[in-house]
Amino acid sequence: MTATSMDQLVSLCKRRGFIFQSNEIYGGLQGIYDYGPLGTELKNNLKRSWWNSMVYERDDIEGIDSSILTNPSVLKHSGHEDTFSDPLVDCKNCKSRLREDHITENKCPDCGSEDLTEPRPFNLMFKTNVGPIEDGSNFAYLRPETAQQIFTNFKNVMDSTPHHLPFGIAQLGKAFRNEITPRNFIFRVREFEQMELEFFVKPGEDEKWHKIWTDLRLKWWEDQGLDKKSIELFNVPQEELAHYSKATVDIMYKFPHGLEELEGIASRTDFDLGSHSKDQSDLNISAKVQENTKSNAKLAIQDQNTKEWFVPYVIEPSAGVERGFLAILNEAYSVEDLGEGKERTVLALKPHLSPIKAAVIPLKRNNEELVEKAKLLKNELQKQGLGRVLLENSGNIGKSYRRHDEIGTPMCVTVDFQSLEDGTVTIRDRDTMEQTRLNLDQTSEHFKQVINT
Ligand code: GLY
Repeated sequence: MTATSMDQLVSLCKRRGFIFQSNEIYGGLQGIYDYGPLGTELKNNLKRSWWNSMVYERDDIEGIDSSILTNPSVLKHSGHEDTFSDPLVDCKNCKSRLREDHITENKCPDCGSEDLTEPRPFNLMFKTNVGPIEDGSNFAYLRPETAQQIFTNFKNVMDSTPHHLPFGIAQLGKAFRNEITPRNFIFRVREFEQMELEFFVKPGEDEKWHKIWTDLRLKWWEDQGLDKKSIELFNVPQEELAHYSKATVDIMYKFPHGLEELEGIASRTDFDLGSHSKDQSDLNISAKVQENTKSNAKLAIQDQNTKEWFVPYVIEPSAGVERGFLAILNEAYSVEDLGEGKERTVLALKPHLSPIKAAVIPLKRNNEELVEKAKLLKNELQKQGLGRVLLENSGNIGKSYRRHDEIGTPMCVTVDFQSLEDGTVTIRDRDTMEQTRLNLDQTSEHFKQVINT
């Protein structure tokens, strides 16, 4: 049984240290969250899995890590200053600020009043002052997407690596949006992380690559444990496309609060590179780009045969780390009925995503011999480099198993008195709860197999 309510996930996250309300002791900050010990591990594992699939497992993609603070000219010419807004409505009765497209029946969701203002555009970008003078002239934006610095670094990466088209640049990192109404736990937040690829192709090959990337991204989410039945593809209608997009396919997931976007795969044509290029006149740009750029770069490629310059088209798979995190938790979470009024909560995470890969548990916490043997085994498993292995010396084996089921640890290893006699340990499997005995010297090999499945 997968989770039926967001409350169950929120409660698990707080109870077990995955996610906390940020600034909680001062009343919090709306739409901002902190990741606790286990959440940090899970998030890092998810990001690593994405990076592996995008950068390490391919030879046509490079990774970068660019600044968050962004020169306003970049976001002027990307179109974000003019168009990156949501329609804002005020309730004249209770003063709530609302997103027009989140209102039903023209009523304020907070007080029910129909006395609402006309919608007006509200730009979602955060601004901050740069340097010591605060007169409004020296400001930067916190990037609203990681994509723009991929475009502004296009020439740097092309010039410093041996690539030809098709070729991609991947980036993973924080982005910021001043959402009017953050909601649904970590689904819609003001500070979040993106996993973005800009894959540059020859004009005319964009539709083929759009399909290829949609299929690859679907497969990747399935490899992270999402059931095919929980996912749908959605072709974004023309009138809802972002200002830079020719076509966008959204990968939609059945979150606890409904079917919503998990990742968007956009066909951004030559809009961005074209908008950031000087001397646009000789580039034959197809998109309606922003003109008069102050950029000093020509973000274009010279065709080796015809010697003509052209601006590559780009396909962009763009996913939110937090949304992925939430989907993966939702999919993995279940409460199992064990009969006789007993139940257990289990997080059936794919082992590569589990925050703790194995827990080594001495049967008695005060028994030096058991604890020493368990420590040695923990160190040996830790050295495999497969992720965090924990020495769980709580002294209560039943509680330890329950905790590790709930946080998704695929395997527990118990060192007991028999271990001292015959050198075997008990291996307990999270999903089946089956316990088997194994020689200590086979434990590392078994661990590798469990984590790499
Ligand atoms: N780069 C696409 C997005 O941020 O939605």
